[in-house]
Amino acid sequence: MSITVPDYGPYTIGRPIGKGSYGTVYLLIPHNPSNPSLCVKRYSKKKLCQPHHRKLIENECMVNSLLREAISQNAAQQTPHPGANYIMQLLYVEETSTCYHFVMPYAPGGDLFTYLETRKKLSESEAAKIVTQLALALDFAHRCAGVVHRDIKPDNILLSDSMCSSILLIDWGLSTRLPGPDDPPLSDCCGSPLYAAPELQYKCDYNGEPVDCWSTGIVLYALLTGTCPFDDPNNFVPNLYRKIRECAPHYPSHLSANAKDLLNKLIHRDASTRGTISTILTHPFITGTQKGACELS
Ligand SMILES: Nc1ncnc2c1ncn2[C@@H]1O[C@H](COP(=O)(O)OP(=O)(O)O)[C@@H](O)[C@H]1O
Ligand SMILES: [Mg+2]
Repeated sequence: MSITVPDYGPYTIGRPIGKGSYGTVYLLIPHNPSNPSLCVKRYSKKKLCQPHHRKLIENECMVNSLLREAISQNAAQQTPHPGANYIMQLLYVEETSTCYHFVMPYAPGGDLFTYLETRKKLSESEAAKIVTQLALALDFAHRCAGVVHRDIKPDNILLSDSMCSSILLIDWGLSTRLPGPDDPPLSDCCGSPLYAAPELQYKCDYNGEPVDCWSTGIVLYALLTGTCPFDDPNNFVPNLYRKIRECAPHYPSHLSANAKDLLNKLIHRDASTRGTISTILTHPFITGTQKGACELS
């Protein structure tokens, strides 16, 4: 099958490279090899029959346009926010009679979940580099685009190349606009249970940024240990939720004191005293290995 991607010339749809709950991501191979590879996330309309499915698509479109606008404004700044570099930008969205097509650049390094599966666990300096970039991307999303991601996990973090030089944050399907002073607060539960903050379980109002900071802590734990701090061997979600509420993670002895301290600040039950993006970017675990990488205005 051949689809035409406006402004990017003709591409042939290739192998599937990723699958989520509703969409499948396919490689788009350029007819002209000097053009970059792209990929398309296709949502079949047949599978999107519930109103909340439709909301996923609307969210992803709305948040991507907020991000696009923020990224283009940022590019015109004298000192652009570095976080914009770590957000995957959609190139184009098309609706056909059967599908929604989200076209974006292809990240040849694949996703962080697969990378971690191969590597088992990462060194503290490599984990610090990834978490620095993730925190910068989130700071940009929160403060410059006014959106919260709400589904931070290794599957939604892509690597620009196989050396893991740079990350790209994707999948804004569960994200939303951060409420303004006159808007109702956030209250809907979403995200992968393994990475979801405890306050999401209570079906009450919560702030968006601490939810992303909690998940960043779980990602850091996963990178350093190869496991999630809260899990249930039988995948029984109520047990998992209880462990998250109890919030007593086990820290293996190989973790440095700095790593444990940062993890403790992020994997912290009370959202109002949980570590923030600024806690991450100024923490010795990060500044000790990422000198000069985290200056923010
Ligand atoms: N631009 C991309 N380049 C390379 N792989 C991608 C890209 N976008 C998505 N993928 C792969 O497809 C998977 C699913 O994509 P995602 O946007 O997270 O879909 P879903 O909303 O269904 O979770 C990702 O975890 C990743 O493995
Ligand atoms: Mg995803």
